Amino acid sequence: MKDVIISPSVLDADFLHFSDEVNKIKNAGINWIHFDVMDGHFVKNISFGNLFLKTITNRIDLIKDVHIMIEDPLSMVKKYQEAGADYLTFHYEACRDDAEVFEVIDKIHECGMKAGLSIKPGTPVTKVYPFLHSLDLVLIMSVEPGCGGQKFIEQTLQRIFALKTKIRDEEVHTLISVDGGINDETGENCVQMGADILVVGQYLFGHGDFNERVERLLK
Ligand code: DX5
Ligand code: ZN
Repeated sequence: MKDVIISPSVLDADFLHFSDEVNKIKNAGINWIHFDVMDGHFVKNISFGNLFLKTITNRIDLIKDVHIMIEDPLSMVKKYQEAGADYLTFHYEACRDDAEVFEVIDKIHECGMKAGLSIKPGTPVTKVYPFLHSLDLVLIMSVEPGCGGQKFIEQTLQRIFALKTKIRDEEVHTLISVDGGINDETGENCVQMGADILVVGQYLFGHGDFNERVERLLK
């Protein structure tokens, strides 16, 4: 069994029967859940936001891994604390400069949440290096953010490996999460390169048996 965390992305889950979807996650022995917030500006789609999350998170006893694909993350940190996020991951590309990235990280920590920083496929992985000592998690996007069900970008593997090497050299404990196009095959490759968390959407919530797919991811 692989030593990896699975964080199911519910973007394409059945929202009409959402408690069934949460039970599938729990019954499979998973204790994380990934929420993708999209604002229609940073990415073209709009998914759901802080007020929606606030109405459900206190009834979901899983680790709430909230990925905000939004502009001006600094102004929204407090709202996502109120919305029940445990991990709050924002985008490097949504910040004006490194000083603002540090400001967002500090604010997330002040609000009692774990801080994650995400980079899009076109952003050099070296851009997150200055923040590693302050971060709990780096989320490497393995597709362009904006929707589920896309194909995994293979160059992501080198990016994970480079980041893992840097994390080891710096002797920090930042977790590496990978998001987009993860299935049993791409997931296996990411774990080999050093990923700690696999964010998985359609592979779990599309067709097929949820438990069997979790087993395949972990085998
Ligand atoms: C994309 C989101 C992902 C995505 C994952 O913008 O951040 O979480 O929905 O879904 P799959 O696994 O279907 O690519
Ligand atoms: Zn995500």
